[in-house]
Amino acid sequence: MHAPWPERTAPLYGQDFASDPFSYYASLRSTFGPVAPVALEETGALRGYLVLDHAHQLEVLQDRGNIWTRDSRWYRDLVQGTLPPGHPMIPQFAHRRSRLYAEGAQHSRLSAPGNHALAQLDMLRTRDLIEELADQLITAFFGDRGPQEWNEADILGQYALPLPLLVMMRLMGMDESSALATGHAIHEMLSGGPGARRAAAELDARMRELVTGKEHSPGPDLVSWMHHFNRELHSGLDTHELSEDVWLQIVAGRGAGTTWICNTVLELLTNPDLGADVIAGRCPMEEAMNRVMWVNAPIQNLIGRWATQDTTLGDYRVNCGDMAIICLGATGADPALHAAGQDIARVNRSHLAWGAGTHACPAHDLGGLIVRTGLEVLWNRLPGMRLAVPVEELTWDLPYIARTPTALPVVFPLPPTPPVNGHSWTPPHSFLSNPPRPISTRPKERPSAPQGRLPRWRSLVAWWPRR
Ligand code: HEM
Repeated sequence: MHAPWPERTAPLYGQDFASDPFSYYASLRSTFGPVAPVALEETGALRGYLVLDHAHQLEVLQDRGNIWTRDSRWYRDLVQGTLPPGHPMIPQFAHRRSRLYAEGAQHSRLSAPGNHALAQLDMLRTRDLIEELADQLITAFFGDRGPQEWNEADILGQYALPLPLLVMMRLMGMDESSALATGHAIHEMLSGGPGARRAAAELDARMRELVTGKEHSPGPDLVSWMHHFNRELHSGLDTHELSEDVWLQIVAGRGAGTTWICNTVLELLTNPDLGADVIAGRCPMEEAMNRVMWVNAPIQNLIGRWATQDTTLGDYRVNCGDMAIICLGATGADPALHAAGQDIARVNRSHLAWGAGTHACPAHDLGGLIVRTGLEVLWNRLPGMRLAVPVEELTWDLPYIARTPTALPVVFPLPPTPPVNGHSWTPPHSFLSNPPRPISTRPKERPSAPQGRLPRWRSLVAWWPRR
């Protein structure tokens, strides 16, 4: 029998939520328990069950009972029109023909070329690439004036936003001009302005162009390796499906990477013990990053999972087609974890900030490498960095999905230390070999030796728009 929507629904919007989501989650937990019915905007049309505790989050994400799906076409409010089709938040979770919305055999098929391609990355060389882009971005902090006695930068706009995106675009094998155009389009799309729709369509076209181009002239990059595995594994992804996966990887790597860098910088600048331990080498950067996964997870809320049958969640009877939102921002404060003596300080990796189950992040090695390298280069070159404003004065975007400050201004004194690799940032080798040629008589050809030098992306770094 159809269960009515609970009488009490908490708002998951507004100033209290935006300024201090962690206190907000705590108050939801004390009012509702581990699961809270919430509305994501004033009309109440976009609603779901917010899952606050580790055990319930795992229950939904691992889905041992085959109840929950990531396929948003199950969302009853959307199907029945309770949520108006033009609602501005629908693009955040609307179904696309990608692995993110697929289950079972279809999910495995759509994931295989991308995952196998990622496994080809040479992580040492990828680290070189990240270091060099990071060095260029830091050098660009000083602009034409060069270093002054005191210098200022916005870590969000000038570093955390561009770094993961530049890395992902480079790994995908974009040349400088298409990376520039893609960067422009992403910026426009995220600005949410009148050009956002056009920019989203342009991005889709650019992804298709990249995928088609690499099919005919492969190179040492992830897209070419995706083509290779698509053929070798007989996955049968068409151009549209391959483009969706390239797009998903760029967007996923960019968004979470940006936020994780910002949140760790903030943690290190506001938690003096941790900051001092990292500078003194008593705590590896990875442990500081891990702590952030617990206390200020880059992806705060996973929107969402949908019930494929009537079920229960916490104390609630949930109908087929209802939405669950996994609140990763609240996991670290789960009282059950603390009662069980779990140490969430630095080393415990049982947080769920990478997700869990079949849709868990397939790229945590790469994601971790981008963020760790970015932070290490930043701390090496600007050891005297500190916040330019009191932490209470920072403003935040609404943390529906990621929790990012609107800006992260810092100051740092001279002397900035020189780049780790001196002034030349072009590494001797590529981060990937070329995939085998598509037409081959040999059954298992070995990938060819690394080739070529990376193009310089100075103008791209210099162009990067400030927010
Ligand atoms: C930088 C830190 C990163 C974090 C914290 C992160 C976190 C996550 C999380 C929480 C999910 C699960 C989504 C869900 O269950 O609904 C996810 C999925 C995914 N991530 Fe990441 N991610 C990161 C970096 C990356 C990078 C660099 C890539 C690409 C190379 C990537 C590619 C993906 C893909 C393709 C999925 C979808 C998996 C699926 O649905 O099967 N992520 N990520």
